[in-house]
Amino acid sequence: MALMALEWRVMVLLGLLDTCQALLIPRTTFPIGSQGRSLTHFTSSGIKNTTTLLLSDDGTTLYVGARDYVLSLDVSQPGVMEIKHKVDWSPKTSDHEVCRSKGKSEMDCHNFVRVLQFLNTTHMYACGTNAFNPQCSYMNIESFTGSSVSKEDGRGRCPFNPHQRSTAIAVGGELYTSTVESFLGDKPAISRFLSGRGRKDLKLENGHISLNDPTFVSSSFIPSEGKVYYFFRETGKEYTFINDYTVSRIAQVCTSDVGGELLLQKHWTTFVKAQLRCQAGSDLPFNNIQDIVTLPPPEGNNPDDTIFYGVFSSQWPLASGQSAVCMFRLRDIKNVFAGNYYELNRDTQQWRTPQYPSKFSPGECELRKPADKLMFVKDNFLAVDSVGPGDPGLLLVSPDQLYSRIAAQRTRAANGRDFTVLFLLTESGFLHKTVLLAKGPHIIEEILVFTQPQSVKNMLLSITKGVVFVGSSEGIFQVPVSNCSFYSNCAECVLARDPFCGWDHDQAACVEVSAASSGLAQDVEEGNVMEVCKPSQRSSLPHTMRSPVAEKYVQLNEVVRLECPQASRQAAVRWERPGSILPGHLYLQPANGSLSFLASPLTLGTYRCIAEENGYIQTLVDIIVVQRALPRSVSSTPTHSQPRADMVTSQGTQREEVTEVGMEADWEDETEMEAEVRRDDVREVQAATMREEVTKQVPVSDPTNGQEELPAPQEEDVTPTVVRETSSAWKEGMTFNQVKEPLSSNNVRSYYSELVAVSFLLVVTLCMLVAGGVYVWQQQNPSQKIQQGLSKTDEEIASSQEEDPLSANLPQDDMLKEKEQEKSAKQPI
Ligand SMILES: *[C@@H]1O[C@H](CO)[C@@H](O)[C@H](O)[C@H]1NC(C)=O
Ligand SMILES: *[C@@H]1O[C@H](CO)[C@@H](O)[C@H](O)[C@H]1NC(C)=O
Ligand SMILES: *[C@@H]1O[C@H](CO)[C@@H](O)[C@H](O)[C@H]1NC(C)=O
Ligand SMILES: *[C@@H]1O[C@H](CO)[C@@H](O)[C@H](O)[C@H]1NC(C)=O
Repeated sequence: MALMALEWRVMVLLGLLDTCQALLIPRTTFPIGSQGRSLTHFTSSGIKNTTTLLLSDDGTTLYVGARDYVLSLDVSQPGVMEIKHKVDWSPKTSDHEVCRSKGKSEMDCHNFVRVLQFLNTTHMYACGTNAFNPQCSYMNIESFTGSSVSKEDGRGRCPFNPHQRSTAIAVGGELYTSTVESFLGDKPAISRFLSGRGRKDLKLENGHISLNDPTFVSSSFIPSEGKVYYFFRETGKEYTFINDYTVSRIAQVCTSDVGGELLLQKHWTTFVKAQLRCQAGSDLPFNNIQDIVTLPPPEGNNPDDTIFYGVFSSQWPLASGQSAVCMFRLRDIKNVFAGNYYELNRDTQQWRTPQYPSKFSPGECELRKPADKLMFVKDNFLAVDSVGPGDPGLLLVSPDQLYSRIAAQRTRAANGRDFTVLFLLTESGFLHKTVLLAKGPHIIEEILVFTQPQSVKNMLLSITKGVVFVGSSEGIFQVPVSNCSFYSNCAECVLARDPFCGWDHDQAACVEVSAASSGLAQDVEEGNVMEVCKPSQRSSLPHTMRSPVAEKYVQLNEVVRLECPQASRQAAVRWERPGSILPGHLYLQPANGSLSFLASPLTLGTYRCIAEENGYIQTLVDIIVVQRALPRSVSSTPTHSQPRADMVTSQGTQREEVTEVGMEADWEDETEMEAEVRRDDVREVQAATMREEVTKQVPVSDPTNGQEELPAPQEEDVTPTVVRETSSAWKEGMTFNQVKEPLSSNNVRSYYSELVAVSFLLVVTLCMLVAGGVYVWQQQNPSQKIQQGLSKTDEEIASSQEEDPLSANLPQDDMLKEKEQEKSAKQPI
């Protein structure tokens, strides 16, 4: 029953997601090798699984834990990663043999370096799985020596199994870890090692009872609290009505903890845990924490305003492809840990809800706890309340991406306001750069970083250098947090709503926002181009703003496809012709912004691709479709033209026969004006520009239905006469284009629709006659019928195909093609 109710909730949740997450499309996508977002990639022969990353405080050196190696890379220059030092740390042959003899794979019987932490200014601490026999070592940061000197047992500091996640963080030279400390992977532990000042190392008492099959995700030290927080997911034993329900957790220990004296000797006396809930209202929770980062408050603010941003996925199959981002406040976490606690029955391992408020606050950081308090702490360490995502609820729900890693940065925009930017790494290898706005998240761009699925990966943000490092088994990638110069005009720069980028009027370039820059055009919250890009630089827009004009040569009856160069996936793209809308029965407009139609005298001429984004309209390209001056071939199989391409169409995928031609003054003026016109102003400007009664009346084409019937324009009919009129008006304005209109095109146009209608009726009649005849004939020859069933002759197959267009629902293109063929066949009559 409970499960059914849950399933219901999932369905409702999914329904909701569909409607409210429509805007979560990344604005720009950069595939691998794209010019706009070049990645720096580090690989070196023999160096594999470069997944543990540690950055020096000054951001110039990246330390890398790899398979059998520890490296340091010089990353002081942007776009450069050069190897400085490298230490071979392969397992001993004996370790390797033991590992193999215990049935582990050759691949896993290496030393995967999983812990890299700075202990002091001269040394760091490194641990590796060492063929299922973990080891640790001190290393000098500069000389990179010492690895062979003092090796110590790495149990409890580093996992045995390289595929198991673990955490380690050094605080004041002491190492706080969470990992599994047994070969079989069944002994979870949260511990402190390298304890200084004469203190004892500490661990959890009965780790396998205090924790239930946990996966450790992250840990963070909060100086104002003197606490280390651990983040993990485990089986939620407090939920008795459902088996194997995963819950995400936050746990804490005090760095001042020295353990008990008689009770809890060498064990934590300050360990408490609580549930972390990434859930909207009573919807199904995203219960599997994947990663979480700490964002300290701006300097001078209360440390309780520290925020944790986490990515979560769902245990429920129906939401299996989805993930969510939630934020948690330190303030809320402190409140939960100050509240009531469940009591653990150690015999049944069941949690009992307290009858009255807890006697003690077990998570407090006192130096010495009295014995009765220690007794209490032993069995009361799970908080009754859970930590929820607070006011905004879920920050982001991705319907189709599994986010696996997160990094966060607060950055100051040109207007002095701070924005939070999240870098989200998807399972499929995309980096989503997302800015959190009052209206909700906006995914500025997605960059494909790796293509192979990665079982182990890591991400590290260097704020000082402005780059994101991604460590994977394919090597290390360096991605700058922004590339403002990708945006070539003010409108694109502003529409991107990238807090790192603003338009500099003087340089006429999209530049990085820095403390020194002032007066940059930027509107992160609204992206309002009209507001910040006008009026001063209306005339100073760079030439790239004006759409290119291109010619495309076609043959009659050919299927023509026009592609629109599309920078933004959040723009609605549509095609127009001067003085006419595009009738649905002649044109196909798929959601990807291309336009397909059959070349005919009626469809030759000029086409304009228009993008509308955030209320701002701009022309992306004008293409003139011209009949090729070749002798017309009558065997009209629509030939997709040869790749003799000169002109850029969209992303360069479908380069057809399009030639770029120069731009004429008329066009420039017209395009420029058009480009700057907001939707409301369209009508006015169009009156001034060749009666383009288009923009207002043509609804933005529904991306799910390219063949939507368009309403007829209100002020002008699309009759052949009108088309002729406007087309000649356009022709005057662009004589430079030498449009090769067919001589008799006007006549043909006038009677074209009638001709098509008559031909169509004629064909229908003929076919009905033929079909009737065949039927009667077959009735008289039953033996023929059987034979037909056994083997169709070529003729029959051909004739049955010919009948198809009249009966079946063919795509528009083919329908048109058939009509055209019929027409040319019937012309002699
Ligand atoms: C930024 O974009 C420009 C224009 O597309 C390109 O030429 C340049 O290489 C890009 N820079 C980086 C670092 O990706
Ligand atoms: C840093 O720690 C290492 C290892 O404990 C020790 O040998 C070294 O002297 C320490 N360096 C400083 C500057 O304290
Ligand atoms: C190491 O990298 C290989 C690919 O080179 C991958 O198949 C394997 O899963 C990785 N192992 C770990 C523990 O990351
Ligand atoms: C756009 O869609 C059409 C039809 O679905 C397809 O033929 C064309 O290749 C697509 N164009 C691009 C650039 O993906």
